[in-house]
Amino acid sequence: MAASVLVAGLIFMSISVGVDEVLHKEPLEKVVYPVPALEMAAAPAEAESEAAVPLAVLLVGADPQSGRKVAKKCAACHDLSQGGKHKIGPNLWDIVGSARASREGFSYSGTLSGLGGAWTYGELDAFLASPKAYAPGNKMTFPGLKKPAQRADLLAFLRTLSENPQPLPAAE
Ligand code: HEC
Repeated sequence: MAASVLVAGLIFMSISVGVDEVLHKEPLEKVVYPVPALEMAAAPAEAESEAAVPLAVLLVGADPQSGRKVAKKCAACHDLSQGGKHKIGPNLWDIVGSARASREGFSYSGTLSGLGGAWTYGELDAFLASPKAYAPGNKMTFPGLKKPAQRADLLAFLRTLSENPQPLPAAE
């Protein structure tokens, strides 16, 4: 019994570094007790691997119509129409693939203008997950979209706001 628990423990150990710590803190003869804790520790690891579906794959199954609804959250601050004006945030027509902080006549924060590069699918996805964590000090006061599938829907919609929609990234 103790041996099988140990073996189970070893398997869990290889799954989770957090679990590794638990084992080291507990004296060996007590390993029998932390088993429920081990199972609990393993659960978030599974949830994470679910969240780790690559963006390119999520985009293949993404629904622009759902994305249109998600984009209502953006409309308070962003005009999405072609040639539309800037509001609290810059106009977002043709944003996918465009140079960052490049909209004429919008006064960006130093943080955002300092980023450089382009709004690729990947960069937009990371930014929209948590604008604050992505670019600390930027002035987009939006908490972020936690669900990867929801962000993919939104990106699938945003890409349609262009005369030449960016090709979807290749799914490996
Ligand atoms: C509360 C207002 C607000 C909301 C809501 C908001 N934004 Fe913003 N957004 C801003 C502001 C302000 C900036 C400029 C940030 C800066 O200069 O630091 C910005 C910048 C951006 C940029 C960078 C644009 C560029 O030209 O580089 C993108 C992309 C963006 N927002 C997308 C979104 C999307 C998509 C949503 C909806 C999920 C959203 N924003 C919701 C205010 C908002």
